[in-house]
Amino acid sequence: DISLAQLINGLLRDVEDFPQPGVRFKDITPLLADAAAFGACIDELADLPGAYEADVIAGVEARGFVVAAALARAVDAGVVPVRKAGKLPPPTLSARYDLEYGSAEIEVPTGLLEGKRVYVVDDVLATGGTLAAAIDLLSRAGATVTGVGVLVELSFLKGRARLDGHDLRALLTL
Ligand code: PRP
Ligand code: MG
Repeated sequence: DISLAQLINGLLRDVEDFPQPGVRFKDITPLLADAAAFGACIDELADLPGAYEADVIAGVEARGFVVAAALARAVDAGVVPVRKAGKLPPPTLSARYDLEYGSAEIEVPTGLLEGKRVYVVDDVLATGGTLAAAIDLLSRAGATVTGVGVLVELSFLKGRARLDGHDLRALLTL
């Protein structure tokens, strides 16, 4: 029997110099394409109190959407997207943040999140800039963040330290 972490690790593909020179990209496409492995990831996240007690799963565009929708159905929650700037109709709240490569801006819809318990997911935690910004936006929109789940944590980039003490579960830590 191999562990879930080992299963995930065997289904990641390292891509050198993507999306720009010097970056080693973690491609999770083979993991998502594997029914048993993807299912096991969702089952694991669905067992976490922060997830199964949530009203809403928030997924970060774009790869976090895939995790969010599957997890939402597993725990009978709704889905709210955290999107790249300019994609959501107003009213929104937005935050700018730094990425491992460049900077970006994300937005959440306002009006849907007030008083909701929200579990936040993404595929990969790298520097933590994206998830820190997402947590900040969700909180400003009136939600209570019940936890954060990712498939893969790149621990050498120390993203966990930027999540303000929020409960983070990574299914694989590299
Ligand atoms: C990647 C990844 C995470 C984020 C992690 O997304 O999917 O969302 O970077 O980086 P961080 O912890 O350093 O903030 P990306 O912005 O490349 O876009 P995508 O999901 O739309 O492909
Ligand atoms: Mg992403």
